[in-house]
Amino acid sequence: MKILLKILGGIIVLLLFCVACGYGYLMFAYPAVPPPTAFEIEATPERLARGKYLNDHVVGCTTCHTRRDWTKFSGPVMEDRLGSGGESFNLGPAGMLYSKNITPAAIGSWSDGDLLRAVTQGVSKDGTAMFPLMPYPHFGAMDQEDVHAVLAYIRSLKAIENTPPAGKLSFPLNLIVRTIPKSNTFGKRPPRADKVAYGQYMTKAALCGDCHTASVSGTPMPGMEFAGSVEGADNWQFVETGYRVRAANITPDANTGIGSWTEMQFIDKFKGFETATNTTLAEYERANNTVMPITAYAGMTRDDLAAIYAYLRTLKPVTNRVEKFPDAK
Ligand code: HEC
Ligand code: HEC
Repeated sequence: MKILLKILGGIIVLLLFCVACGYGYLMFAYPAVPPPTAFEIEATPERLARGKYLNDHVVGCTTCHTRRDWTKFSGPVMEDRLGSGGESFNLGPAGMLYSKNITPAAIGSWSDGDLLRAVTQGVSKDGTAMFPLMPYPHFGAMDQEDVHAVLAYIRSLKAIENTPPAGKLSFPLNLIVRTIPKSNTFGKRPPRADKVAYGQYMTKAALCGDCHTASVSGTPMPGMEFAGSVEGADNWQFVETGYRVRAANITPDANTGIGSWTEMQFIDKFKGFETATNTTLAEYERANNTVMPITAYAGMTRDDLAAIYAYLRTLKPVTNRVEKFPDAK
């Protein structure tokens, strides 16, 4: 009996030792990204213009980094708080995150190298690993010039003092998150003439797949790319509007996707909201409100939207019927 207890005790000590070593290694070796590079992004007028276009209508830094007004159609951002963070992202049992203040009041002391590393590799200036809800894996694969343009523009935002609440990830995600940031390899923006490849680039930059592809434990479900919400997936439904909203199937399936939409219909779906009036919705209309920032996407050029449409047409049609607004009567 005594010997058995001794062996058991020995095993427990050994196990605790292994856990401590593993924890120590995780803390010491991760996040595994190189130190920030020293360089400056020159804010040329071309960069600022391109950066504003990409931010306002495509990559949406300030769409996530600003509180949105869900009493209005598609939750427009509160302009007087632009970039000051605090929008909440409910990850269910995985935790709760808040976007950070990215105006000069908060990141004014960061070097361009610090900022570039945060946005493309996922490590904050103080060394904290970020959860990829902040879409650094996408931004790290974009054309470096496009990223520089966006960052030049972000630097020009008005300084607003605001300290959003700290986010919280539950165990074990709070440890796993340290292993996600990686050094990145920038891509190349394909020429516009190559409509499908260019459309794919813009679709990724606009993060369409992040909402429209169901994922489990952060990994996209194989075969369900752009097929919309799937019951039980991490991103099964959004609740930000106060009602349940599910992402539509945007594969070319004729019955349950957008296979029957013409290019013109697709473009007009977005362009129709370019001059949205921002009126406050009645309670019954809020059950039909969307989390897709379509009023922001509406400012994309017709050519860019046409390219996105062209890319979406090349996807595998997937049959998946989605009830988009289950609470609407
Ligand atoms: C889908 C929403 C979303 C988009 C789009 C987005 N962010 Fe973020 N961002 C976040 C969230 C959420 C965090 C906090 C992540 C965390 O706590 O792990 C964050 C964190 C950051 C941080 C770290 C700030 C700090 O104090 O640690 C920076 C810098 C940043 N984002 C810049 C940007 C820029 C620039 C863009 C556009 C190129 C952008 N973000 C686009 C959601 C987003
Ligand atoms: C923040 C999450 C989110 C992002 C990002 C997003 N969508 Fe959506 N989308 C939704 C949701 C939710 C719906 C269903 C509600 C609605 O109709 O707006 C939807 C609906 C749609 C529809 C209407 C489909 C139908 O059957 O009526 C189209 C088309 C669409 N999205 C295309 C896109 C494209 C293209 C992009 C990228 C430029 C994009 N979405 C980005 C969440 C998102």
